[in-house]
Amino acid sequence: MRTFFAIAFISCALALPSVAQPPKAEQVESKGGVVVCVSPPAAEVGLAILKKGGNAVDAAVAVAFAMAVTWPEAGNIGGGGFMMVAPLGKDVRCIEYRETAPASAKADLFADGTVGALDHKAAGVPGTVRGLALAHAKYGKLPWADVVLPAVKLAEDGFVVNAVLAGGLNKVLADAKTTNAEFRKLYGKAGNEEWASGDKLVLKDLGKTLRIIANKGADAFYTGELAELLEKEMKARGGLITKADLAAYKANDRAPIRTTYRGFDVYGPPPPSSGGLCIAQMLNVLENYDLKKLGRWNVETNHLIIEAMKWTYADRARYIGDADFVKIPDSFLDRAYAKKISEKIDAKHATPSEKVAPEIVLDKESDSTTHFSIIDKDGMAVSNTYTLENSYGNRVVVPGAGYILNNEMTDFNPKPGFTTTKGQIGTKPNRIEPGKRMLSSMTPVIVLKDGKPVLVTGSPGGRTIINTVLCIVLNVIEFDMSVQDAVTAPRTHHQWFPDVAMFEGVGQHPKLVAELKQMGHTISERRQGDGHSVGIDAMTGVRTGVADKRLDGKAVGE
Ligand code: DON
Repeated sequence: MRTFFAIAFISCALALPSVAQPPKAEQVESKGGVVVCVSPPAAEVGLAILKKGGNAVDAAVAVAFAMAVTWPEAGNIGGGGFMMVAPLGKDVRCIEYRETAPASAKADLFADGTVGALDHKAAGVPGTVRGLALAHAKYGKLPWADVVLPAVKLAEDGFVVNAVLAGGLNKVLADAKTTNAEFRKLYGKAGNEEWASGDKLVLKDLGKTLRIIANKGADAFYTGELAELLEKEMKARGGLITKADLAAYKANDRAPIRTTYRGFDVYGPPPPSSGGLCIAQMLNVLENYDLKKLGRWNVETNHLIIEAMKWTYADRARYIGDADFVKIPDSFLDRAYAKKISEKIDAKHATPSEKVAPEIVLDKESDSTTHFSIIDKDGMAVSNTYTLENSYGNRVVVPGAGYILNNEMTDFNPKPGFTTTKGQIGTKPNRIEPGKRMLSSMTPVIVLKDGKPVLVTGSPGGRTIINTVLCIVLNVIEFDMSVQDAVTAPRTHHQWFPDVAMFEGVGQHPKLVAELKQMGHTISERRQGDGHSVGIDAMTGVRTGVADKRLDGKAVGE
């Protein structure tokens, strides 16, 4: 069902054709606030909020609402996510607004293959509006309407489409069968023409919905007229979400996952994301080695990084689910446990994935998110990743409400007991239960040194997210790269199964690839992530906003 790894896995015996070298990230420097996100008009909204006296959370809420308009493939009010906040002089927190399984959802929802990823049943109860409202209520300075209205204006007056957005829209619209009629009506260009850079996109219904949210607050999304519209669409098309599911939805203010690495404090999101726990375990394993001395593109370094990923992703499958439903062991944060993993890692050979978790029975078998990073002039930092799951979610626009729905239910393990060497997981902790939140890989991270943020980062990319973030964090705090170089550098991904290491730098580092293959690694190449980040120089106070150019992106500063 998931097509995530449908992308060719090229045999390791062949010389790999290389994808182009990752483009150089673009940077802006400022001593004031900085906003970095994938969508240029949304970045400008964030900057305007900072200039108006808003803090990083005000800007983050405004950017998130703006991207629901200007970056429809992942920006959303119909999805969910995780917002890490480093407030001034207070502990880092995580506003968790992950979608929830509706009350009538069953563990075997996807098991017989009749419910697909674009089905109405694949939608979880949306969390974004409550999450943004909770973040704003806890930390915001400006009035709520001030941070929602810029998105209303973009939707009602329209905004200029750039080449990247035009390409994305043309792609999703080309396959008409995958979108509902409302989607085509609202996102299709008049006369069925293709979108082109410079066109204007106006989204009146979405503007109306956002205006209701601006005037009446988050409750208006979860009750009343807007809840009626979603329930009506669900009932008409066999979906599961009811008004009662919407009314019951709560966002959570949770303690983040924290680990330390070489004197830095690394904070990531807690379950239902696996991101914080997995980053912590991988860093704890890797701290047992002197990677810096070995060098960033040394074979041993990359072997160890791949093995740390492999062992940790196996534990992810074994243990992690929504912690409100399952007991997750403390081992992810336990250095003694990490040391044991490092002792099991063979220094000279890749360990086959089957041997890493032999007790998980393997069966025979048969994308989009977005991240933004913000710091304000006073040093409050926000790291936010949110998503509709696939690109444009389940491609259903709620008639009359104008927003796109997520298909996040596919992040639950689809078939109980069915774990495959291709990467499908069927282990217990992440099975569907009513009211449970599906496991996420979203990993918005904030790194502190002596209590002050030095790096704000994160990425889209499904299960690759955690490893993209690991690469960026290691590049900065282990290998002393500038944030621009850290974001540009080729990334690695191994997720236990399939037993293949993805590497973006096949063309740039042929010797390294040959040496890794000699150790028994299967290497493939694939573009990985979109890590819009901010680095803060603790000595000078200069903030560097770095826009990853693998997709699109803009960094703006005061
Ligand atoms: O929460 C998760 O881990 C996934 N729903 C994220 C999906 C994603 O990153 C797709 N895009 N690139």
